[in-house]
Amino acid sequence: MPGCYAATKLAPAMDLRLSRCLGAERPAKRSPRGTQPPTHSRFMMVAEGRRTMAATYKMAAYPKEISFRDGSTVIVRPLEPGDADGLLDFFLSIPEEDRFFLKDDVTSPALIREWTQHLNFDRALPLVALGNGRIVAEGVLVRRRGNARSHIAQIRITVTPDWRNRGLGSAMMRELCDIAAGAELDAVHLEVVEDCESAAVEAAGAIGFVRLGRIEGGAHDQQGHLHDIVLLAMPLHKYYEWSKY
Ligand SMILES: CC(C)(COP(=O)(O)OP(=O)(O)OC[C@H]1O[C@@H](n2cnc3c(N)ncnc32)[C@H](O)[C@@H]1OP(=O)(O)O)[C@@H](O)C(=O)NCCC(=O)NCCS
Repeated sequence: MPGCYAATKLAPAMDLRLSRCLGAERPAKRSPRGTQPPTHSRFMMVAEGRRTMAATYKMAAYPKEISFRDGSTVIVRPLEPGDADGLLDFFLSIPEEDRFFLKDDVTSPALIREWTQHLNFDRALPLVALGNGRIVAEGVLVRRRGNARSHIAQIRITVTPDWRNRGLGSAMMRELCDIAAGAELDAVHLEVVEDCESAAVEAAGAIGFVRLGRIEGGAHDQQGHLHDIVLLAMPLHKYYEWSKY
């Protein structure tokens, strides 16, 4: 079962407090006649709550050791500035046909330097898994921008070929969902090219992601053939708690 893995907390680390008081400093609007607008309708209270939502990513669980069904283990932890060379080597180990579907040119040393030297967890929280001392998987939680969308985060996962099919991809998805759930986000989305990234569809489905929709012909492969993109979602809160049993 892909989601079946054992995790051990190794050492206490830090909480990444990401207070984003979105619009909190804005003065309250006054009605044209100078009276305070009504603030107690249920809708407005919800809207106000969203605007002042602070995301706190609870990272005390990391570094964490995770073991798999074949007996292998990895250490999962947030990306660090010293990871530049290891991260570049990792992405160079990913087959060209897989890299083609990634959103960024991950073989660019300048991009990897940017990612490792200017870590901005408020926007993107990258986790790496180390197996036998080298990076063997990377996953990132990207919180969507803007007041209206910041209750949702997207994830992306990549695993080096010789570490695939042992549950690592699902374990990384689960870690990122745990972090998003701890920050009280509402859902995690995963976008995959259906018939080219079928392992991702399989791994996500096995841990409880549901299908939201499909963009027909949303991506093309290296030969120019069109493929559908599938949008998968992990609802958080109670659904997520239940999905773990
Ligand atoms: C998707 C990816 C992260 C999965 O990593 P992984 O460590 O192999 O994931 P898991 O072992 O947890 O689960 C993979 C599941 O997919 C299945 N699978 C593997 N290849 C498959 C294929 N071609 N078609 C259908 N299912 C496949 C495996 O059997 C496994 O299921 P099982 O555990 O029930 O046997 C990895 O394949 C990868 O890095 N791919 C390239 C990048 C990518 O597609 N990323 C996803 C989009 S962001």
